[in-house]
Formats: sequence, C-alpha cells, structure tokens
Amino acid sequence: PEHPIILAIESSCDDTGAAVLAGGQLLSNVVATQKVHEQYGGVVPELASRAHQQHMLPVVTAALKQAGLTKADLDAVAVTQGPGLLGSLLVGGMFAKTLALALDKPLLAVNHMRAHILAHFIRDPKPAFPFLCLTVSGGHTQLVVVKSAMEMDVIGQTIDDAAGEAFDKTAKLLGLPYPGGPHLDKLARQGNPERFTFPVGAMPGYDFSFSGLKTAVLYFLKKETAANPDFVPENLADLCASIQHTIVATLLRQLRRAAADTGLTQVALAGGVAANSGLRTALEAEAAAQGWQVFIPEFQFCTDNAAMVAMTAHFQYEAGDFATQLTSPDPRLKL
Ligand code: KG4
Ligand code: ZN
Repeated sequence: PEHPIILAIESSCDDTGAAVLAGGQLLSNVVATQKVHEQYGGVVPELASRAHQQHMLPVVTAALKQAGLTKADLDAVAVTQGPGLLGSLLVGGMFAKTLALALDKPLLAVNHMRAHILAHFIRDPKPAFPFLCLTVSGGHTQLVVVKSAMEMDVIGQTIDDAAGEAFDKTAKLLGLPYPGGPHLDKLARQGNPERFTFPVGAMPGYDFSFSGLKTAVLYFLKKETAANPDFVPENLADLCASIQHTIVATLLRQLRRAAADTGLTQVALAGGVAANSGLRTALEAEAAAQGWQVFIPEFQFCTDNAAMVAMTAHFQYEAGDFATQLTSPDPRLKL
C-alpha cells in the first residue's frame, strides 16, 4: 500500500519499545524502561535480554491498542538490527521475525544510529537534506552528514567513551546515581562552569575523545578529597557545571569545525544527551552567532524509542529496502 501501517520494535539496549506508524504518521509510541540495572550502575546484558522478553508482548500490545489497531491491520514489521547488545537485539529480532512470518507480511531491518537521526522526521519542524547531525547517546558519539534518508556519511566519531558515558562515568565519580547524566545536568544549573578546568579532548578532524576527561576528574578528586574529605559535597554544583562545560565545549568544537568545512547551516542534535540543558544553551548561542538553524527532536524521540525505528522503516519501505527471515542482528552494525 501507498500508506503502509508499520509496527516497529526497538530492543537494542535497555529500553523495550514498540510504535505504530501509518503513512508516515505516528499513531503510538510505547517504551518500557528497565529499572533492574540501576542497582548495578550500568546495563547488565543478561538482565536486559530477560527484561526485553518480559516486556515485549505487553509493549507491542499497548502500542497496537493505542493506535486503535490490531495485528491484522499491519502491512509490515520493523525491528532494530543493530548496533546494540546481541542478546537484546535477538529478543526483538526473533519477535519481529515471528510476527512477520505469522502475518505473512514483509520485515524491515533498521539501523539504530540511522533511526536516531531520522527521529527528526517524526514531527515538524523537519530539517531539509543535506544537514549535519550530532548524535550523542550513552553508546555513541557521531558527527554525520545526512544527504538523504538513505545516504549518510559519518565524518567523525568518538575514539573511546561516548558523550553520554562521559556524563555517566564522571557523575559516578561524584557519587550520583546511574545514569548520572540527567542528575549532573540538574546540579550543573546551580554551579559555576568556570570554577574548575578540565582538559577538552582535542582530536584532529571531527573525532572525539572523552577518556582523558574521566581520568582527569578521577585524579583531581583523589587529590582534593585527600586534603578535604568533604570536597565533593561542598563543591558538587560547581564540579557538575565545570564537567558539563568541558563535555559541551568538546562537542561544540568539532561541530563548529564540521559546519565550517562542509558549509552546512542546518545543525541537528540526536540521542539522549540532546536533553542536556548546557548543550542546548550552548548550541543556541552558537547558532545565533553562526547563523545556523538548529533542530532538536522532542525528548521522547531523543532517547531510545521505537517511533524513530518506525520512521526509518517507513523510508526503507518506500525505497523497497526489505529484510528476510535470514536477516540476523548485528551488534556492530555500521551506519
Ligand atoms: O539515547 P539514549 O537514551 O540511550 C543510548 O542509546 O545510549 O541515551 C542515554 C544517555 C545516558 O548516558 C544518559 O546519561 C544521557 O543520555 N542523558 C543525559 C541527559 N539526559 C540523558 N546526559 C546529560 N544530560 C542530560 N540531561
Ligand atoms: Zn540509542
């Protein structure tokens, strides 16, 4: 059909998602976030797979119900193929394949990183091709030239930690709960970003590096707490603000360079770290100075979700890019 009804499933990390899209219009978007990992301070792959298995059917059922449809109405089933955790991807992949087989409908295999970028096309305002996208999440940091829905060039990426990991790992050093990014962001609002200076990971080209920051914060805190055991609680807001300032400066430095070299003036943010208030403020200021047009999707479409997978699947459906029952998950799938 010209306006296909697509059910999409996302299970690449620790969020189980299902969404229904009809002719490119989002009808429903349901996510079950796994709480089980908090006590471990990070995602435990085995537990993530098990939780996906438990959440999958209720989440899919809820997505169909919210859309006011039944599975008999579906024209295609889409699923995240990678990158992500193998066990997690397998749960969504097997569910989607089985459903497609039972319904005798086509299957679409979606790249999770591409989906983060195409989340910009769920709602207005939408960027026009080509545009520059900075994808910043807990697992990835990429600068991408987006030429079309199907053609994208990764021009820069992190050589070690992702931006979200930089937030989460430094937040952990400050004793904040996991995932620390949002906690650090909140505290940073009351702090002085110029109080402490940490190194900006200066990489050639458009690549990023964040492991130096984590090490610098670790040694700095060791030294200061040896002299004053209450150093962290006494300076928490300033520490958060200074760390956030450093991460944002690292991201903006490469973004500015990429925009200048490519001549692109539409700049898009994607991934969970797009929620960061420091990044948003700095990007707005930069946009005003450089004449950029900035695009940031609604928060529910920035963090892991199936709506972005459905949107990507819609473009693939139009292009005739279908998967088969032989398609299998690829934890290291490239963009
Ligand atoms: O895109 P996402 O939900 O999952 C991945 O695919 O990784 O991103 C999650 C990441 C976590 O590292 C989390 O700490 C970070 O996004 N994050 C934030 C904020 N909100 C979420 N980091 C900084 N400030 C925030 N406000
Ligand atoms: Zn993601």
